Parts: sequence; C-alpha cells; structure tokens
Amino acid sequence: MSALLEVAGVSKAFGPIKAVDNLSLAVAQNEFFALLGPSGCGKTTLLRMIAGFERPDQGRILLDGVDITDVKANRRPINLMFQSYALFPHMTVAGNVAYGLEMEGVRGADLKRRVDEALALVQLSPLAQRKPAQLSGGQKQRVALARALVKRPKLLLLDEPLGALDKKLREQMQIELKRLQQETGIAFLVVTHDQEEALTMADRIALLRQGHIAQLGEPRTLYERPRSRFVADFIGQMNFLEGRRIAEGFEVPGIGLLDAANIADVPAGTDGALAVRPERIVVSESDPGQAIAAEVEGLAYLGQDLILHLALAGQAKPLVARVPAANPLTTHVARGSRVWCSWSAAHSLILSE
Ligand SMILES: Nc1ncnc2c1ncn2[C@@H]1O[C@H](COP(=O)(O)OP(=O)(O)OP(=O)(O)O)[C@@H](O)[C@H]1O
Ligand SMILES: [Mg+2]
Repeated sequence: MSALLEVAGVSKAFGPIKAVDNLSLAVAQNEFFALLGPSGCGKTTLLRMIAGFERPDQGRILLDGVDITDVKANRRPINLMFQSYALFPHMTVAGNVAYGLEMEGVRGADLKRRVDEALALVQLSPLAQRKPAQLSGGQKQRVALARALVKRPKLLLLDEPLGALDKKLREQMQIELKRLQQETGIAFLVVTHDQEEALTMADRIALLRQGHIAQLGEPRTLYERPRSRFVADFIGQMNFLEGRRIAEGFEVPGIGLLDAANIADVPAGTDGALAVRPERIVVSESDPGQAIAAEVEGLAYLGQDLILHLALAGQAKPLVARVPAANPLTTHVARGSRVWCSWSAAHSLILSE
C-alpha cells in the first residue's frame, strides 16, 4: 500500500518546549491510524501541522507524494475535527452540515444530495431539522462528524473526537467511527489519550512520548510486544518484577530464576524488569509445581473478572492478577488466602528500557 500521508522528520518547538521532536510516520490509503499518548506529548500540535494551522520548524509533510508543507490549510484536501466541536447553535443539523459546502459554492440539488448522504451515513436523517440544543451529546458528535465527512476529504483528522461523551456512548461511537471509516474509505488519523479506544478502533497506533514515537505498530504488537516499560505500562496493565539477566536466566531477588519470551535477545548482565500482564497469571490454590507462593493482599470484584493483589516474597509491590469469574477459586478466595501463581514464559518479556 502506498502512503497517503507522510510526515518526514517534523519538529516544532514552543520556546524551550519541543512539542514535536523529529517525528516521522506514514498513514496508508484507507487506514484507521491512532495517535496515542499522555497529555502534552504533542498529539494536537502534530495534527495542527498536518492540517496546516501550524508550520513545522523542520521536516516535510507529503500528501499522495506531493509536498504540502507550504500549502495553506484551506487548500489541503484534509479536514480537522477539533477537540471541542463547535456547532452553529442557530442553524439546524442540516444547515450545520451544509455550511462548509455552501462556502465552497455547492448549491441546489447537488448540495441537498450530499447533505442527505452525510446525514444518512451518521444515522441522523430523522433529526435534520433540529437545532443543536435539541440534541444529545452523542448526536452533536455525529453532526460534527457529518460536517467533516461531507467535504469528502482524503484524510480526516480527529482530535479526541469522543472526549466529551460518557463511557457507554463512547463505546458505541468507537464502533460507529470504525464503520464510517470503512464505509467511506477516507483515511482517519485519530488522536486519543485512551488506550482502550485506540486498541478498539485502529489498524495501527503510534504511541507518542514527549514529542517522539515510543512505538508504532498494530494494536496486538503494542500489547503483546511492547519495546519499553513506558509502552507496556501505557497500553493495558502490566506487572514488573525487577531483576537481572544472568547466564542461567532472569534472576528476581526473593523469587528466583525466571524464563521469558525474549530471554535469548537479552545479554547477561542486563538489569531490567520481567513484565507479565494480569490476565496471563494463572492462580491456583494448591502448588502445581514450579509456581510462586503468594498471599492475597486485596481483591476487587469486577463482574466478569476478579482482580487479586498478590504479595510475593521480596517484592515491595503486589503482583496484580486477573482471574475469570468462571474459576471456582473466585467464590471463596479472601484476604490472607495462600495461593500459587505461575505464567507461561511465552507470555512474559524482559524490558530493560
Ligand atoms: N501555542 C502554544 N504555545 C506554547 N506551548 C504550546 C502551544 N501549543 C502547545 N504547546 C505545548 O506543547 C506541548 C504539546 O502540546 P499538545 O497540545 O500538542 O499536547 P497533546 O498531546 O495534544 O495534549 P492533550 O492530550 O492534553 O490534548 C505541551 O507541552 C504544550 O503545553
Ligand atoms: Mg490535544
């Protein structure tokens, strides 16, 4: 697949702050690409440069192979949906969606057809004559989306598009956004600081940290093969057991020698942490052999899962395990219970960064 958007070595500083620092990435045609990262890592700044509202200090931005770094925002076939989507309160839903096209000189039957199409796409046709004040948060969100889609950009940039919505609606809209992206074939570049949202929607994710890319890849790769503690910790939940790679394995004080999926790639003498996800930990009430003894220090019932905090010998922080409710031990395990935990070496990684 050829790249639709190419960001090549782009930097932007505000005084002493390097908001975006020599960053490169490419978004393919028809791709759903998520920019993920903590507050202040440069997500909005990068989007604003791609849209043309901010000029990079360095680097180039290409669309379909054409350098657009010096092209004005309104001449780029790119639309940006802002972090706060301001609708015109005095206009109807249809009026809000039509506005951008009218500015471009689209009139009459052509205008009506395109507005109708965009409203149908976001399932708002029955509400076309309402005013924004008569809509729910999710409906307003969809008006903003229709307004962005109606101009048929090649690339749609969305800055925290679901930020204003409650959890339930957010989850519905995540599926909806994905459907819209697939139906229209428009490439989406979506900013979020919610890792679950990125995992749900994106074909690929770039996780940003302090203006640069910590890791870029498919959701599964970021989750299963994080390159650093920062990535491992940001995407999902992760346990870290501090230790050192020695010739015989990975040595964790108080626990002993452990194996890991990437142990062959880690040279002896390396200090680091063994990382294992809570849902990968197998908890049992009798010693299955080769397991680590632990004491239940705390527990939280989540319906489908039980979260256990397990105190291990020599470890200051408890190990967090996520046990499916179907496991019989969840019905009677309590604070102070003695248990054993283990995991497959294939499900753990040594991270030295
Ligand atoms: N116009 C500006 N003037 C000065 N500093 C700015 C400006 N815009 C952004 N910054 C700074 O650049 C850094 C990156 O900001 P940016 O808005 O890109 O972050 P973000 O990743 O979008 O964060 P959030 O998730 O909070 O929206 C921050 O430290 C911010 O304070
Ligand atoms: Mg932002």
